[in-house]
Amino acid sequence: MNNIIQQYEKYIMPTYGRQPVVFVRGSGCYLYDERGHAYLDFASGLSVNNLGHCHPAVVKAVQEQVAALSHTCNLYHTPPGAELAKLISENSLNGKVFFSNSGAEANECAIKLARKHGREAGGATKHRIISLENGFHGRTMATLSATAQQEKQEPFEPLLPGFQYVPRNDIVALEAAMDDGVCAIMIEPVQGEGGVWPLDVEYLEAARRLAGRHGALLVYDEVQTGLGRTGKLFAYEHSGIEPDVLTLAKSLGGALPIGATVASPEYANVLTAGLHGSTFGGGPVPCAAGAAVMRELMAPGFLEAVQARGKRLRGQLEGFQEEGLVTDVRGLGLMLAVDLPQPRAEAVVRRSLEEKILLNNTSEGTIRFLPPLIVEEEMIERVAEFLQAALRK
Ligand SMILES: Cc1ncc(COP(=O)(O)O)c(C=O)c1O
Repeated sequence: MNNIIQQYEKYIMPTYGRQPVVFVRGSGCYLYDERGHAYLDFASGLSVNNLGHCHPAVVKAVQEQVAALSHTCNLYHTPPGAELAKLISENSLNGKVFFSNSGAEANECAIKLARKHGREAGGATKHRIISLENGFHGRTMATLSATAQQEKQEPFEPLLPGFQYVPRNDIVALEAAMDDGVCAIMIEPVQGEGGVWPLDVEYLEAARRLAGRHGALLVYDEVQTGLGRTGKLFAYEHSGIEPDVLTLAKSLGGALPIGATVASPEYANVLTAGLHGSTFGGGPVPCAAGAAVMRELMAPGFLEAVQARGKRLRGQLEGFQEEGLVTDVRGLGLMLAVDLPQPRAEAVVRRSLEEKILLNNTSEGTIRFLPPLIVEEEMIERVAEFLQAALRK
């Protein structure tokens, strides 16, 4: 067996079901293995490589920054932190940003912010956080407590107290769960790891209204949906229903680890000196990468092109539905999924690897598509052809 794979098995904890392939290089929509074989990437590092692999603007920004200044602690200021925070704030909630290193950390910050605000506004009993069944918010103890998936939670119980779960898109259940002890409603506008399930606009409206009525914060976890993935800079722009707190990570650093928690002006100063922190959070190198990513995403026509590509891929998948090869097509922009009539998604993903295509399944019944936002038409055609043949078998 390949030496690298053997070393992974010997020295790395078995927390992932890895595919038997070793990548050494990436460029655009392709990854290259040790023998130089190109793999068309329709998973984008699970929505991290949204600009493709080694985007020249990101590489340049990182190279220049790492050579100029790699780290200071957070007791000082650096230009990339200021620039990225301004870009995020001015294009989202016009508030303030806390930088961390991952999606889970971005959500941890949102949870702490909501708890502190709740305590100040309604006393120690205003601490409950409502999240959705089948959602995903991270693997740390607090974010796992918000992740209402029993198989992920159970081995680590007891979880943090004060989390309550309601079914997705069920306004009556949300209304019944809400009272003045709730400090936040935390939701993904499109559930990602749970299988790509967009929330109804009416549901988001209800969440916004109920949060307001009970003095709770509406937190959108846009770790996966944010930064162009759904064809808008942020998924909440599809409905126009704004959150109080927005969390970002994954593609923000153009492949470098960074998370961001954005609070609207009203809640921008809830977390004050000494209450939250991160040694590496907001470091100059990931922030320089993030600023390069933001500038690319906001280039004229970029997001419109993402929408057109999403339509193209969706059209192909809907064709498969008409043919009876898949039972459902859903998602937004370039965050799409199909359900299979039989539970064999893993086999399809394994088969795609043999064809040098990288696909991802969220369960045995669902294949998820997260191609780079720069994906080209002939790449969509190639994946569609593969899928049609694989699903017909
Ligand atoms: C919606 C959402 N929130 C949070 C996370 C956790 O992010 P990370 O793995 O960077 O901690 C993920 C990761 O898949 C995610 O999809």
